[in-house]
Amino acid sequence: MNLLPRPLPFDPAQMPGLSERLLNSHHSNNYQGALKRLNALRSELAAQPLSGQANYHINGLKREELIASNSVTLHELYFDSLHPAPEPMVPAMALALSASFGSVEQWQQEFAAMGKALGGGSGWVILAFDPRSARLINQWASDHTQLQAGSLPLLALDMYEHAYHLDFGANAGAYVDAFMQQIDWDKLYLRYQHAVHACSEGYEVEPDALGDSTILDVRRAGPFQQSAHMLPGARWQDPARVDEWAAELQPGQAVTVYCIYGHEVGRSTALRLRARGVDARFLCGGIDSWQAAGRPLVDK
Ligand SMILES: [Fe+2]
Repeated sequence: MNLLPRPLPFDPAQMPGLSERLLNSHHSNNYQGALKRLNALRSELAAQPLSGQANYHINGLKREELIASNSVTLHELYFDSLHPAPEPMVPAMALALSASFGSVEQWQQEFAAMGKALGGGSGWVILAFDPRSARLINQWASDHTQLQAGSLPLLALDMYEHAYHLDFGANAGAYVDAFMQQIDWDKLYLRYQHAVHACSEGYEVEPDALGDSTILDVRRAGPFQQSAHMLPGARWQDPARVDEWAAELQPGQAVTVYCIYGHEVGRSTALRLRARGVDARFLCGGIDSWQAAGRPLVDK
């Protein structure tokens, strides 16, 4: 079955910093070209069994299939990473970047520096969620085939010359700066939520099953300060600073973390602790469901 190309998810005439001519050329020639190659390769692979063919033929077809497939995926993510008028980053996304890179600014500086370092060469800079470490990572790739195994790409910056040469010539740095201004934070956050939810399935705990686990309130600093209550026996730990306090917990220690609703703040913190060997789970529904069910709270 042939894959059909996805249209540009924005009006290319409206993208500040990147011309309509550049975006249309990139989409029509490079993205759709990769998609046509992928369809052709898969048709050829389906038409004749690989067994019995020469090794060089098998290797060539499967290598080209991988190149074309990843090129399609990364180009679709690249175009989906851009918005003509992006909304500001939501606090939970800022928290996720801060927990992994120290601050949003440090993430931005690292990501942009990696893009500029690829100027004159080719490749991708990818922000991805790495389930093993439960961290966001900035991944370097010099071609389409280099993706960190198991990671879930959330944002992609195309550093092949075809992505910028029409507008910027050899000035790759100006292209990177233009890209950084147009990141669609809402879509990135949605992808991050999906990644964290998918990786944290099975680590939830119901309110009546906390047992004698250590209870940690990991609501973001702002909402926690504005709240008057917390769960009995809990202590607050800043979810943006997991690395600073996680060493206080023992490998195998049973820990329950809770945030407001049991979404990605609590889930990602539990995953970060699990990556360090702590038997951490997140409270289903967070403190909101706990309170709604009439369970006890204490003053902070
Ligand atoms: Fe490209």
